[in-house]
Order: sequence, then structure tokens, then C-alpha cells
Amino acid sequence: MAIRDIVLYPDDPLTQKAAPYESVGPEVAQLAADMFETMEAFDGCGLAGPQVGVSKRILVLHEPEQDQRLCLVNPEITEPEGSDTGEEGCLSLPRVFAMVERATRIRVQALDERGRRLDFEATGLLARIIQHEVDHLGGVVFIDRLDILTHEAKLQEWNDVRGQLAPAARGSAAAAELQPSP
Ligand code: NI
Repeated sequence: MAIRDIVLYPDDPLTQKAAPYESVGPEVAQLAADMFETMEAFDGCGLAGPQVGVSKRILVLHEPEQDQRLCLVNPEITEPEGSDTGEEGCLSLPRVFAMVERATRIRVQALDERGRRLDFEATGLLARIIQHEVDHLGGVVFIDRLDILTHEAKLQEWNDVRGQLAPAARGSAAAAELQPSP
């Protein structure tokens, strides 16, 4: 296992569409193990492949309220219901937070890191984390979900933060991904 470097916005491949897996071999479980280790090292709630430089449809998450850890490969979200606004952050835009609207209930179909089929409903914080991470697989970050004026303000905020990050400190300066609302 190894802690990987986090790709900062808007560096490649963060804004690109990630490719699906055609098969799930042992290298996927190895990558997932690295991603879990990296996510925990930076106190994140979720981490997507493109955030560690892997443009593939894979994500890991740790939902803190139920202490649930999941790896989702080729995840698909269907049947979104409801809407709620909650605070999000992102390991690829550390120290920037914003209120983002998400569905409150979703159905998720995916494989796990060993290729086993998953099909479940997610609500609340788990649903929010999955929607945030699946966005990453489409090249979308949470500030892209904001209205244009707020987006511009958050982008400026991030550019200021990024300018202050020393190259060597960028990784360790990362704030928690997806801070739940107080
Ligand atoms: Ni993120």
C-alpha cells in the first residue's frame, strides 16, 4: 500500500471524463487499497480515481456517521429523489467549502474492488458523498455545481489558496474532503 499524491484542480486528469473498467483484476484491489490509505491520510470522506491521477471510473469513500467504507467501480446513479443543500469540500481544492445541492436519495449500481456486483439505495451523507465522487469521474468538481456568481467567487478563493500553497506542502495542506455540515 502507498499514499498517492493528490491532483489539485484544474490539473489533469481532474477535468477529464474517466474511462470505465472493462474487467476488474487484482490491480483494481491494489489501487483501491492505495486510495483508501490516501483518503484516510488526508482525512477525506471520499476520493475518486482522477484525484490520484488515474482516469478510471473508481472511487472510495468513508461515510463517518455509519463508519461505512466502500469502493465503487463503474458506479451508476439512478432514480435520484429529493434535494438538500449541504456543505462540501474537496481534497483537490483544499480549504475551499461551499453549499451544494444534491439529491437526498439515490440508487447505486456498481462493482466493488473485487468485481462483485453492488446494487443499493443511499440516503443522506452517503448519497451526498457518492454524488460528489461520481461527479469527479465525469470531470466535474463541486464548485461546478454552484450558480455562476458563487462559482466565480469560489474559483477566485481557490486560486488564492493555491497560490499560497508551497509545492511541497500542497498534499499535506489538504483539508478534509466533504466536511459534513455542523
Ligand atoms: Ni472531491
